[in-house]
Amino acid sequence: MKITNSYSFRGELSVPGDKSISHRGIMFGAISNGLTEITNFLQGADCRSTISCFQKLGISMESQGTCVLVHGKGLHGLQAPAQILDVGNSGTTMRLISGILAGQPFESILDGDASIRKRPMKRIFTPLSQMGADFQCWEPAVFPASKKPAASGCAPFTIKGGKLTGIHYTSPVASAQVKSAVLLAGLYAQGETSVTEPKLSRDHAERKLAGFGAEITSISTTASVKPEPALEGQQIHVPGDISSAAYFIALGLITPHSEILIQNVGVNPTRNGILKAALAMGGNLTLHNERTVSGEPVADILVKSSSLHSATIDGSLIPALIDEIPVLAVMAAFADGTTVIGDAQELKVKESDRIAVVTENLTAMGASVTPTQDGMIIEGGKPLHGALIRTHQDHRIAMAFTIAGLNATGETTLDDRNCTVISYPSFYEDLLALTR
Ligand code: S3P
Repeated sequence: MKITNSYSFRGELSVPGDKSISHRGIMFGAISNGLTEITNFLQGADCRSTISCFQKLGISMESQGTCVLVHGKGLHGLQAPAQILDVGNSGTTMRLISGILAGQPFESILDGDASIRKRPMKRIFTPLSQMGADFQCWEPAVFPASKKPAASGCAPFTIKGGKLTGIHYTSPVASAQVKSAVLLAGLYAQGETSVTEPKLSRDHAERKLAGFGAEITSISTTASVKPEPALEGQQIHVPGDISSAAYFIALGLITPHSEILIQNVGVNPTRNGILKAALAMGGNLTLHNERTVSGEPVADILVKSSSLHSATIDGSLIPALIDEIPVLAVMAAFADGTTVIGDAQELKVKESDRIAVVTENLTAMGASVTPTQDGMIIEGGKPLHGALIRTHQDHRIAMAFTIAGLNATGETTLDDRNCTVISYPSFYEDLLALTR
């Protein structure tokens, strides 16, 4: 796909539903009693992988547009899957479903695409094994034709669930996927289960599980859950995904003569780091119509063209904007001064190594970027030129560099735009609508 410099972007849009909340709606609905109705569900490839895995576990679901009905079977109603549970590209599906499968009296096999097979799963094996589940990894090169044991700590793997015991887990990483997996296993364990993280990660699981009737408490960076709750189906309206809104925030800020109103965006404090970072960089950004929808804070975000300056982005802000760092790095390239992004080593184990891939592509466009162990240093303010962008099939890289290309001289070519189906299938249509 080819992208050239555009004059301005003006208008209103609503971005699709939040990916993290959409996944959790399906999963929690599946293990609750009765019907869960999810509206504004994200029909992206990752969330569709979650639907397909739960169908293989015996849950029936109906989808019409962005509305999904989940016919939950209660905490102990899942059936042993007859097939491999294929999570596609979705780390959230693989890690969270493992928490639920740890508590089932059957074995399941999990696998996914080439990217998921490289992502670290030991981070969930460790606590879930301590609780009583068993894991066996398989050699991916010969799987599934033959099952050769591997010590990879990666997919494909078999998980054998069973009787679990509650633990207090001190997680070495601030990861909502790890926290959510352990809390989900805690629903099936004997005694209380709690997780303490080094910094607070997104808290959608805690909010939503409480909404479904779980006994869950959060104090600072520790979340605790009691076992065997009677979860009841819910109606959930999913807010717009702030991670998807971030591309339009960046676009509005860096493109001259632009003004974009992004409606119905989730602005949960554990997710809104991009708003804080944009304000720290001098962005003209205001929140309107702030409200609470299905237990999540929501607002409309008005963004206007701004002269950005550099900022330091690190510490507890990082988990609240971890998925937005590729587009934040693009904003930094257009900002005056040197932006330092630190404490973000988790970027190396996302859908691609985002420290390396952002550096590679920004450098190709003429920016000065130095990768570091835990982030990058970006000397902003140099005009960018068009280049060939290698997305590494990472949806967030494709969208971030589309925004960069729209503000660079000459032509930018993406080697793959299809990967945007993972989290934002209508991204290019929504973008085009703002040029009319
Ligand atoms: C997610 C948590 C984050 C995030 C991912 C979605 C979730 O991952 O990057 O896109 O829904 O729990 P980590 O938990 O690995 O930080």
